Amino acid sequence: MEKAIIRRVYVWQLPVRIYHWVNALSVSALAVTGYIIGSPPAFMISSEAYDSYWFGTVRFIHFVAAFVFFFNFIFRLYWGFVGNHFSNWHNFIPTTKKQFNEIKEVLKIDILQRKGKIIESIGHNSLAGFTYFLVFIAFLFQSVTGFGMYAAMSNSWFPHLFAWIVPLMGGDFAVRQWHHAMMWFFIVFAMIHVYLVFYHDYVEGRGILSSMAGGWKFIEKKGLNDF
Ligand code: HEM
Ligand code: HEM
Repeated sequence: MEKAIIRRVYVWQLPVRIYHWVNALSVSALAVTGYIIGSPPAFMISSEAYDSYWFGTVRFIHFVAAFVFFFNFIFRLYWGFVGNHFSNWHNFIPTTKKQFNEIKEVLKIDILQRKGKIIESIGHNSLAGFTYFLVFIAFLFQSVTGFGMYAAMSNSWFPHLFAWIVPLMGGDFAVRQWHHAMMWFFIVFAMIHVYLVFYHDYVEGRGILSSMAGGWKFIEKKGLNDF
């Protein structure tokens, strides 16, 4: 059996971990409540309409989760400039030959199920980083369309900063359709993401799964020279 000297490395700082779980929870709440808003079940309720405010509560949860989601996201963007090496924005946009080669290697592992090759990156691998970059653009889109629609329902100044998006995209109906479609992007992303996190935990054996809880990964000593 091959032996390796392992060191533990503190990869994900507390703010990144808190960001991740607040984001995962708020996106889950937004997807569930958003789905109900888009396809409201027709309950046969005998009581007066004013006695039944459950749909208002669903919308209220959507809007509270939306504010949490948005400001948490802005915080993560800020942390991309002030956080440690692993959380820096450079990890999300591949520019070097090394990063492009790593994308090819990771695709071979994820699609051809190849095992045994050490991935150089200690933080996000280059393919994961780039995928998160696309997800961040989708977060931005969802925020702009969401607050754009919300402007019509709120007297607060903040949502009105986004009101221009509604006429730009061709009206409320079109914005809602795009906002709805994007929900499915997040659902598909989350399913593949969780599968890949478990799979890479197994292939790499570096504790990637628990790293988003405790912050630490376990790296072969050779890899430690790389950062
Ligand atoms: C991951 C994030 C989000 C997801 C998955 C999501 C999902 C959805 C879905 C599926 C709908 C129903 C659209 C339809 O009618 O078919 C909806 C409605 C809506 N969402 Fe979101 N949303 C998200 C973020 C946001 C944000 C950040 C805001 C900002 C305030 C927002 C505001 C709204 C508004 C105003 C509506 C229309 C509510 C109504 O007309 O009753 N959403 N959302
Ligand atoms: C049980 C569910 C989940 C687990 C176990 C999990 C685990 C992880 C782990 C271990 C990483 C770091 C992996 C890497 O280095 O590439 C990560 C990153 C990330 N995850 Fe998740 N995740 C979960 C759910 C979600 C959900 C629902 C979302 C949002 C839709 C999400 C969005 C992200 C993002 C955006 C990153 C990049 C973090 C950053 O650098 O800011 N995750 N996740």
